[in-house]
Amino acid sequence: MKRFWGKSLAAQIIWFMLPIMLLAQSIGFLVTADDRAAELREIALDEFIVRSTTAVQLIETTPQAYQDALFRAMATNYSRFWLTNDGPGELDRWSQDAWHKLHEPLLENASGNASASTGPWGSADRDNSTWGMTDSPVLQSTNRIKDTIWEPIELKSEEQSTLAQIVRLDDNYGAGLVAKLPNGQWLNAAYAKPPKKFVWTSPTTVSLAITAVMLSALAIIVARRIARPMRRLTHAAESLGRGEQNGHVPEEGPDDIRRTAVAFNQMQERLTRFLADRTTMLAAIGHDLRTPITTMRLRTEFIADDETRSRLLDTVEEMQAITDATLEFTQEQSVDEPTRPVDVAALVESICEDLADLGRDVRFRENGVIPYRCKPARLRRAIRNLIENALRYGHRADVSIASSAAGVDIAIEDNGPGIPDKEMDRMFLPFVRLEESRNAGTGGIGLGLSIARTIVRAHGGDISLTNMANGLRAVIHLPPIPGGFMPYETSEAV
Ligand SMILES: Nc1ncnc2c1ncn2[C@@H]1O[C@H](COP(=O)(O)OP(=O)(O)O)[C@@H](O)[C@H]1O
Ligand SMILES: [Mg+2]
Repeated sequence: MKRFWGKSLAAQIIWFMLPIMLLAQSIGFLVTADDRAAELREIALDEFIVRSTTAVQLIETTPQAYQDALFRAMATNYSRFWLTNDGPGELDRWSQDAWHKLHEPLLENASGNASASTGPWGSADRDNSTWGMTDSPVLQSTNRIKDTIWEPIELKSEEQSTLAQIVRLDDNYGAGLVAKLPNGQWLNAAYAKPPKKFVWTSPTTVSLAITAVMLSALAIIVARRIARPMRRLTHAAESLGRGEQNGHVPEEGPDDIRRTAVAFNQMQERLTRFLADRTTMLAAIGHDLRTPITTMRLRTEFIADDETRSRLLDTVEEMQAITDATLEFTQEQSVDEPTRPVDVAALVESICEDLADLGRDVRFRENGVIPYRCKPARLRRAIRNLIENALRYGHRADVSIASSAAGVDIAIEDNGPGIPDKEMDRMFLPFVRLEESRNAGTGGIGLGLSIARTIVRAHGGDISLTNMANGLRAVIHLPPIPGGFMPYETSEAV
């Protein structure tokens, strides 16, 4: 699970997408919140104008004694009405007065609803604050009051129409209005409503969470769609590296991945064809050399000089051995041995036992069952080549096997002279031997190591040689099989 959140494609997509989603959502919220606030401000302003119109009409017909009560009745938490004898005068002064009015308690005894008496900012402490100079959330946002001017407005109702002046205050969160009444007095109206702070409401959170979950699900689906064919490709590439032929990778999925699969299939095909062509060619050469070699041997018989004849015969024998070995090798190669699960420990043990039965000095150190997918006959040949070398050049063979997370190691140690370090790499080349002569007395023709390495590399592994204090240590390393070793039930000793 930890790996999923760190490295998987889905996790990466989610990590990239979520912040972007959050950002997009936040921007969306802010934009709509702004729009909504602007709309509400307009509505509030309209309402204020309507109220002011009503106030103008009512005040004319209301006896003086009731005027105060009327204004109080018309006032809301966010608006106040009052009369003055003079016109508005300087805007700064007027708005200061309005500010004070807005903070006057609505109810004379301030009983009951407390909020009804504290003005728009919920606190009467700011009584001495003035428009444009407070730390109120409303006024903070602007000092535009300096640019703000009274504008004429007509207060229309069914019966009459009064000319008035209106001013927008406080970044449109507030407004002031003055209208001259027929009796010479002025009606003043002020309105202010602080903007609502953005709150993290639970619907917001829920909608964010739902979007996040849906996006994550989407990311997982998309990643699966990409990852599945990728994983198939990885498996195919790995098993190709182990020399397995496993047919075509399905060419499906998103375009880029499909193309990768197509390219992989083509590569696999070419590789297979190339290997097959090479083997066929080697086989043809080996086969075609047979007849001339036979002819040569026959003709050699006619050479009179005994020494020359026997030397030439030796050479012809050598050529014969080389072509025979090549043919044998190509025949083995041309048969495509299927990969299957076996117990490699048992496989190595059986090789050792066979040689021990022939009276050779081979010892095998047991180490339990080691199931492994391989081409058993080929692997057997590679191991056998190394053990035979140990016996031939190092007098005895000590064979051990170990498996770990890094793969399987088969080690063969002997008591021989070893190989000079600078010659080590060369010994793997075909037909190369430390001792130049190729005669039956000293062993093979120099193909053993080369064939062994070809086989082990076809399994995705490699062979390493190291000189020890007395003797050579050859190690066949086989890579771990992805997804673990095969369970023993399906494996079998060979
Ligand atoms: N265990 C060993 N100890 C010393 N020399 C070795 C050992 N194994 C291989 N060699 C050297 O490497 C050469 C190449 O080995 P190989 O490819 O098996 O060919 P061949 O055994 O047919 O000579 C051998 O001729 C030998 O000189
Ligand atoms: Mg050999």
